[in-house]
Formats: sequence, structure tokens, C-alpha cells
Amino acid sequence: MQRPDWERFRQAAGGGPAAAIGRHVYGYRSVASTMDVAWELAEAGAAHGTAVVAGTQTAGRGRFARAWVSGDGESLLASVVLRPAAAIAPLLTVIGCLAVLDAVRELCGLACAVKWPNDVHVGGRKLAGVLAEGRTYANGTTGTSGVGVAVLGIGLNVSLDPAQHPELAGTATSLLAETGQAVGLRLAGDALFRSLDAAYGSAEPSALIARWREALDTLGQRVTVRGRDATLSGLAEDVDAAGRLLLRTDDGTLHALSEGDVTLAG
Ligand code: BTN
Repeated sequence: MQRPDWERFRQAAGGGPAAAIGRHVYGYRSVASTMDVAWELAEAGAAHGTAVVAGTQTAGRGRFARAWVSGDGESLLASVVLRPAAAIAPLLTVIGCLAVLDAVRELCGLACAVKWPNDVHVGGRKLAGVLAEGRTYANGTTGTSGVGVAVLGIGLNVSLDPAQHPELAGTATSLLAETGQAVGLRLAGDALFRSLDAAYGSAEPSALIARWREALDTLGQRVTVRGRDATLSGLAEDVDAAGRLLLRTDDGTLHALSEGDVTLAG
């Protein structure tokens, strides 16, 4: 594994238990992708909640293996090793998005919405993206048979100026662009890890889904969802207990979709 430029290990305060997420953070000036570093740590047995942050990435990735673009030191680029119970595993993107909403509200009072399944946006411009990758070990190599390991990646645009990135102009925004407030990356990371820890720790699935419904501005809209294999248009009616989008097509069929790109249907 690439040597970290810094490492932080937080002790429990006042004798109480320390938050697991963000207790151990590996920091890099530049990596290919924090996802890859976190996977290396996960495979080497890193504890649940171990986090990787980077100032910049040379091969940051999003869903469908798309490139994730960010400038140097302009975005919080973080990946967290998680060892979720089976009931929580499908909800990691939900937990990641809700944690971003909470952290952003705490940092600068900004209210955002979520475009299903993973885009945190302000007025249609993307502020943050969440990427959940999972692996399952049927033979128990992670220690407990059948329990998988996941890496949850979050990119949150903090001081990014979309005008400086032609490929993002018109589609992206940042905390600075929205509020005029400068927020430090360290502060943003601490807030995100705290919110993630709280959302994950209180992970009662039905409560998470209730919050997910509130956060999604996709619901109630006529949309087109482009998936890997098919494109469907219809009414985004609801989400199910696993956070999947329930799309009613015009022939009356209700489809439960677990991935896809959503655009408003004309
Ligand atoms: C998406 O919008 O499709 C998800 C984007 C996730 C980007 C973050 S940045 C930190 C982590 N490292 C990556 O390579 N990707 C995630």
C-alpha cells in the first residue's frame, strides 16, 4: 500500500467509546482513488470505520466507472471501510447521502436534496456523490462467515470552483459556490465522519428509509431511468425497504430499480 502522508488515530474522549467511523484516518496528498486504498486496507483486515482521505485523486471514480473530477484540495475525497450486517448492507448509499446532508447542514446551514440513487445536489447542481462498493466472503475470510465488507466513498465539493473545470461547468457546485463561506477540509471531514457514524449507528432500517423519502426530490416526478441493460420511463412513486426506486411505467407495472441514471421525463 502507498505510504500515507499522515495518519490520525483518535482516542475515546472521557472514557466513553470513540466513534468507530473516522477513528483511524489515513491521509494522502494524492492517490489514484481513495476507494483502492480503502480496499487494500479492508483486505488487510482494517477495522470497521477506518477512513482514507486525499487532497487529490488521479483516477477518482463514480458509479458505472465514470471519472470523478476534482481539483487539488477543493473537495473532501473520502472512503470508509465498513463491515455491515446483512440488513444494513443494501442501505449504505442511503446512509452516505443522509450523512452528507447532515454534515453540510452542520457546516454551513445549507439545505440540499438527493437525486436517487446517489447525487446530493443544490438546485440541480451536484454537490456530492456517494459510491458504495461491496464484496462478500462466503468462506468467512473477514472473520464472520457470510458478513461482507464494503467501502463507502464520498466526494463532497467544498471550495471547488466549477468554472475552473470545463467538464463540470453547469452541472456541479460546492459549499463555497453556494454559501460564499470557506470551510476547511479537515473540518468538513470531521463533520462527515461524525454524521456517518451517527447515521450508521442509528441504522434502524425503517427510520433510514423514512428519512430517505424526505430527502429524495425524485419522488412524485415523471422520470426516465437509464440502467445498464434497460431504460424505463414512468412515475417515481416511492422507495422500498432496501432504498430501491419504485417506478410505475405507463402499462401499470411497478418496477423496483436498484441502479440507474435519472433524468426528468419530458
Ligand atoms: C458518483 O457520483 O457516481 C459517486 C462519486 C464518488 C466519488 C468519491 S471521491 C472519494 C472516493 N474515491 C473515488 O474514487 N470515488 C469516491
